[in-house]
Amino acid sequence: MQATTRPLPPELDAWRHRLAALAAAALAEQGPDGAHDLTHFERVWRNAQALLAHYPQADALVVLAACYLHDLVNVPKDDPRRSSASRLSAGLARERLAALGFRADKLAGVAHAIEAHSFSAAVPATTLEARIVQDADRLDGLGAVGLARMFYIAGRMGSALAHGADPLARGRPLDDKAYALDHIDTKLARLPGMMQTDAGRALAERRLAMLTEFRAAFAAEWTGKD
Ligand SMILES: [Fe+2]
Repeated sequence: MQATTRPLPPELDAWRHRLAALAAAALAEQGPDGAHDLTHFERVWRNAQALLAHYPQADALVVLAACYLHDLVNVPKDDPRRSSASRLSAGLARERLAALGFRADKLAGVAHAIEAHSFSAAVPATTLEARIVQDADRLDGLGAVGLARMFYIAGRMGSALAHGADPLARGRPLDDKAYALDHIDTKLARLPGMMQTDAGRALAERRLAMLTEFRAAFAAEWTGKD
């Protein structure tokens, strides 16, 4: 993640400030959500910068804009409108960016990266920029921060921390709606294999290793076998 400490070229840095302000204004219109706040957009952009270091041919401005605006319309996971959230975000981002004077020839690239970032939209990422944004967003679901976000989201949806007697689901089907810990196996463990870039996959594997270790330690404490 060392790439994040490099100063941004002035044009990108100026846009980063404008985009952060635009995202903050959209967040102010929604209810508070600690898993999808401005710090999430900043981390996704930092993840993307780490990936951009491996893919210098990608358009960094398109990636930057999509990172800050990908969750512009935030629909909770258990809401039936969830699958349209990324399409709505893409449309709104196009409007807001055009109003700010963003380059018109880059708007379609930003909109595609936003639309394709989400699982539920099922839109294949067809550009390098979209692949980077998708990986960068998914990386924020892994590792220590991903773990904190997982329990935060589960708490908002009313899930239990884990199954009382069988936290590792040895003798029952996984159910991440009922048990937060199950989400590591139902979804997060699959993320490295779904990464769109080699650099994203390498980072995802490192972050998943931490979650796998956590899951075993949690189960040992939970069942009194630590
Ligand atoms: Fe996101």
